[in-house]
Amino acid sequence: MQQPGPWMMRDMSTLNSTLNSTFPSLRSSFSRSSLHTSTSSTATLDSPLEMAARGPAFLMCAPKLYDVDYVINPWMAGNVHRSSRERAAEQWEQLRSAVSRVAQVFLVQPEPGSPDMVFTANAGLALHGTAAISSFFYKERQGEEQHFRRWFRDAGYKLVEIPREAPFEGEGDALFDAAGSCLWVGHGQRTVKASLRYLAETWSIETRPLHLIDPRFYHLDTCFAPLFGGFVLYFPGAFDAESLASIEAAYPADKRIVVSEADAVRFACNAVNVGPHIILNRVSADLLHALESRGFDVTQVDLSEFLKAGGAAKCLVMRLSDMDVTHRPQQGSRNRSIHAAA
Ligand code: ARG
Repeated sequence: MQQPGPWMMRDMSTLNSTLNSTFPSLRSSFSRSSLHTSTSSTATLDSPLEMAARGPAFLMCAPKLYDVDYVINPWMAGNVHRSSRERAAEQWEQLRSAVSRVAQVFLVQPEPGSPDMVFTANAGLALHGTAAISSFFYKERQGEEQHFRRWFRDAGYKLVEIPREAPFEGEGDALFDAAGSCLWVGHGQRTVKASLRYLAETWSIETRPLHLIDPRFYHLDTCFAPLFGGFVLYFPGAFDAESLASIEAAYPADKRIVVSEADAVRFACNAVNVGPHIILNRVSADLLHALESRGFDVTQVDLSEFLKAGGAAKCLVMRLSDMDVTHRPQQGSRNRSIHAAA
């Protein structure tokens, strides 16, 4: 009988309600499986790869070993050992629960010595069953690579290694546009521009570099979010002039949702997006209105404990499903239309 992989750590708590409302067609394949036992009756369980091909799916890592242990971005300065693991666990649970309402959540086991592993967006980048494993810029996070590599290998992904000489920090710095037709890559802080060619070669996809110039916005997902419906949420101050011109050339003015500095430092651009649903840290009433008036269904989750390490909602998840699957209307979910603001 097939032995279960580490991806068996599927999030169970809201699975039944999620399956009932969002994935009605998948219920039967789960009810055949025993997810509580680790060695028996699991041969029928679909792998993350298979699940991610059918519906929105994300990878998360519980903050059991989360801490601010070192300083590798400006947010961590002054916060070393100042986060509460208890509050972090509560906040992460809220996020997990919000994401589970619109997507399948898989879990990777936290590992000792890797307190930032909770930020799974930096695990790598996945598309079409291939995962490019991150090659972290700072040695403080390089130990995570082996753990993420193992998870993707066991989950059945084809692996692509990015050389150490060309640091690449995964989905934290590489975001597909909503249609999945091009890949925006942030560079200049962690990821280096030389890594773009490996991504372009891996998926034969057009890569568009965006130069990050503000150390507070050291990953692309802290200041830029392509959204369902062809919108983009971004903080212009994080980019150089050439990068701004390239964003403006790709997204017409009525599709650009400009975030103020006050919202940007609350990680407003660090948004998880599944079709019309957006999940993010608490933001201003103005930004909430800007999103809701365009038809988005917004869930705010207080993630203050993770801001101390320089991350929020989107940093805490990694998308496993391709963009067309992530944004595909789900059976049973409300059919909302996304439209331009009045
Ligand atoms: N402390 C982590 C780091 O500096 C935070 C990572 C946040 N992740 C993200 N995708 N922006 O690497």
